[in-house]
Amino acid sequence: MSRNVEGSRGALIAAAQQVRSNAHAPYSRFAVGAAVLDEQGRIHAGCNVENAAYPQGWCAEASALAVMVAAGGKRVQAVAVCGVADDPVTPCGGCRQKLREFAALDCPIWVADMTGPRASFTLGALLPNSFGPEFLNP
Ligand code: THU
Repeated sequence: MSRNVEGSRGALIAAAQQVRSNAHAPYSRFAVGAAVLDEQGRIHAGCNVENAAYPQGWCAEASALAVMVAAGGKRVQAVAVCGVADDPVTPCGGCRQKLREFAALDCPIWVADMTGPRASFTLGALLPNSFGPEFLNP
């Protein structure tokens, strides 16, 4: 991991903590914030958005990725997720795959709560033996 990426850790976690307060989670009451660092060093943040038709809701990580893509971002260099639970709140399986589209297997995923960092993973550790864009040669 480059020093620049490591140097963005605090700002990325702060962005995930901040955006978490905008989560629309009236059904689960489980607010999550996520932030991604793009290839230009920009931070994009998003929260979970639930729906009265439950399966239509989506996760914070998906929101953050959509914000990045809409802003012209192409690659994810690092991810921060903020949720409050006894154990560190890691991305769900579907979001691990969504991140796989834009991030390398050594991409750091920093998991935090509102007090600060809780755990650190790589995408490859959370999603081993995965299927990704290079299989399709677009
Ligand atoms: N959720 C996220 O947004 N990200 C995660 O990493 C875990 C789960 C959301 C989905 C749903 O709105 C709520 O948390 C409870 O599952």
